[in-house]
Amino acid sequence: MMIPSADLLPGESHSVVIDRARLATLVEGAVGGGLILDGALAVRDGCIEWVGHQKDLPGSYLGWRRLSAEGRLVTPALIDCHTHLVFGGSRAHEFELRLQGSSYEEIARSGGGILATVGATRSASREQLIHDAARRARHLLREGVATVEIKSGYGLDLATELEMLRAARAVQREVAGLRVRTTLLAAHAVPPEFAGRADAYISQICEEILPAAVAEDLVDQVDVFCETIAFDLSQAERVLEAAHRAGLTTRIHAEQLSSSGAAALAARLGALSADHLEYLDAAGVHAMAGAGTVAVLLPGAFYTLREDQAPPVEALRRAGVEMAVATDWNPGSSPLGSLLLAMNMACTLLRLTPVEALTGTTRGAARALGLEAQVGTLAPGKLAEVVAWPLQEIAELSYRIAGHDPPDRLVHGAWVSCRDLAQRGSA
Ligand code: NIG
Ligand code: FE
Repeated sequence: MMIPSADLLPGESHSVVIDRARLATLVEGAVGGGLILDGALAVRDGCIEWVGHQKDLPGSYLGWRRLSAEGRLVTPALIDCHTHLVFGGSRAHEFELRLQGSSYEEIARSGGGILATVGATRSASREQLIHDAARRARHLLREGVATVEIKSGYGLDLATELEMLRAARAVQREVAGLRVRTTLLAAHAVPPEFAGRADAYISQICEEILPAAVAEDLVDQVDVFCETIAFDLSQAERVLEAAHRAGLTTRIHAEQLSSSGAAALAARLGALSADHLEYLDAAGVHAMAGAGTVAVLLPGAFYTLREDQAPPVEALRRAGVEMAVATDWNPGSSPLGSLLLAMNMACTLLRLTPVEALTGTTRGAARALGLEAQVGTLAPGKLAEVVAWPLQEIAELSYRIAGHDPPDRLVHGAWVSCRDLAQRGSA
């Protein structure tokens, strides 16, 4: 089979009609994931033009080239909307410490945790950072992911934060078929150079690091870790306001280890999402519902840290808050290299339904990234980022714990195995 060129970007695809598909459209308001059993989908120049029952396909498409899905489940390509996959080193030792009873906070306070990865990231070469991040990104691509968000936050100084964002941009250039959205998370921890002077570091972020990242066009979004071991509400607010003044969208790591009001702050400031949310309270749910803030659930961190309090999924559902699911792939709290496994965990550990889990890695994730006009559903006007799974039911995506066969991705009007896409250009 023809392998697409290295500069292939998601959405680049010829005109074709996909037929014999079980289409999970994921459009808002549709029940059951908007599943259309005898579905067809017309793609013109890489954009979805028509979606519906095959028998209703307009006559104007009859002469078009056909591509059969052979009765498979067809979904939007997946989106991993929260990762930290540029980093140096490993934190396997902290895994062992936690197994012996140390807590994540204790390890962080004693200089391990995020700061351990900061040391390893500062001393890594540019080539190593890019090579390792691209390798991780290919694991996601292989399982049907077409968009991945990558955060900085292991540099915590001007030079290394910019290097991390450059590495994230480089991943998009290196990994054909993957779109990368970058997020500046300089406010991830207080760097050793600023110990006891968190406010001064926040000033450096707002006045120096953020403007430099913007000037080099390295950043799409800005995020803050709001937590007792990181930054407080007023520090988070300063960073988000500076981001909004620079025209960027924002997120907050909120209510992960304690209840702080950070999700309500995200809602008040118009951040696109609040992420983690184990300790979200009723007022936070209410604020998020009112503002349309996306709740990004990260079951990999919940699992790794053996949290016993789960995010209030039933309250979020009742309030109509859009939920997203992501890997949070990072070397400490979530060394999780599979978005499909995150979906399984979201169901088993957090009690999402399989339709909610798939919605959370497509439409909900697109909203958290501000990309909902382009991707995340199968609907006219969206990019034709489409995958066909060797499966029939939406529930099968989340039901299996591991061991999925890679899906096919629509590339230049043909099916290409995501296994082949991921192998392309890999060392
Ligand atoms: O999303 N919560 C803060 N940041 C990461 C963890 C980073 C780390 O432990 O290296 C998270 O879980
Ligand atoms: Fe995170």
